[in-house]
Amino acid sequence: MDWNLWISCFLMFCMTGMKALDIHQPLSMINTARTSIVLDPFVSISAAPDLLGLQGQHVDFVTITFKRPYRAAATDWIGVFSPAIFNSSVCVQDKTVPNRDFYPLLCTAPIKYQYANFSSPGYVEDCEGSMKFRLINQRADFAFALFSGDIYQPVLLAVSNIITFAYRKFPAYPRLALGKLWNEVTITWTSGYDLLEATPLVVWGRQLKKDEFMSGAGTLSFTESDMCGPPARTVGWRNPGYIHTSYLKNLWANTKYFYRVGHLLQNESYVWGTEQFFSSPPYPGEDSVQRVLIFGDMGKVSL
Ligand SMILES: *[C@@H]1O[C@H](CO)[C@@H](O)[C@H](O)[C@H]1NC(C)=O
Ligand SMILES: *[C@@H]1O[C@H](CO)[C@@H](O)[C@H](O)[C@H]1NC(C)=O
Ligand SMILES: *[C@@H]1O[C@H](CO)[C@@H](O)[C@H](O)[C@H]1NC(C)=O
Repeated sequence: MDWNLWISCFLMFCMTGMKALDIHQPLSMINTARTSIVLDPFVSISAAPDLLGLQGQHVDFVTITFKRPYRAAATDWIGVFSPAIFNSSVCVQDKTVPNRDFYPLLCTAPIKYQYANFSSPGYVEDCEGSMKFRLINQRADFAFALFSGDIYQPVLLAVSNIITFAYRKFPAYPRLALGKLWNEVTITWTSGYDLLEATPLVVWGRQLKKDEFMSGAGTLSFTESDMCGPPARTVGWRNPGYIHTSYLKNLWANTKYFYRVGHLLQNESYVWGTEQFFSSPPYPGEDSVQRVLIFGDMGKVSL
């Protein structure tokens, strides 16, 4: 009897006092606060397709093409922004920093970046290039920007069209954890539906016997003001969506279960995640192999 126990520890570390060029995370090397904006009508960048995840998948690829007809440099880079509106209209003034000598022009850090020559080694000579980014659905739209000046003195030259996932709010990323008792499992997932918009639920049962239960779920979220300070409150903030948790109880030991997370909308229609499976825990003391995986502080980006 072999049961893999996945313990997900979501440890929320507050990121206080982080300096602009702290390199504990590749994205934190980007000097967002010192970005200048020199939009250049001759520089262009565009993203295709406009709609991602048309088959309901939450991961998809986008192709970026860009052109800088003169002065293309090896230090030019492409930043991915989500939400797509990232100009100073969305700046949250950071009152916790006293005697501020300037206000930043860019108040959202990119969620990913890559040098323009990454997939186009001839970029500097050809003055144009393209690359692919793998994006995950985190319920917001995306825009792409071409910068010069490397990541240390970024100069924003051009911004792309806006693209988005087709099913942005749909329930996604279910994760399982052991409940308080041996025969309970908790299911947590994320969606874009708050409690006023839809009721979260799980449909589940033994896979072979086809019994089917429906359990409701709780909904939680957090905001900038729950963070200790910048950059978590400012350039590093990204809306976490709504986090739903349901408790599946009175499970049989060592039994394969199916489950499907979903939401009952106001108009009585349902939206569903894809069907998934798990094997329930063994009865305590039964002869079995247990594996424990502990992880935490995963951040909110995909690198
Ligand atoms: C691409 O750009 C990076 C960053 O400026 C540089 O280190 C690298 O040498 C460049 N590669 C090519 C093939 O030019
Ligand atoms: C920010 O971008 C939006 C959409 O492109 C635009 O309507 C708005 O005027 C911009 N605001 C500033 C301050 O640049
Ligand atoms: C219910 O509302 C959702 C979201 O507004 C919509 O996509 C769906 O088509 C509606 N379903 C019905 C049966 O009206």
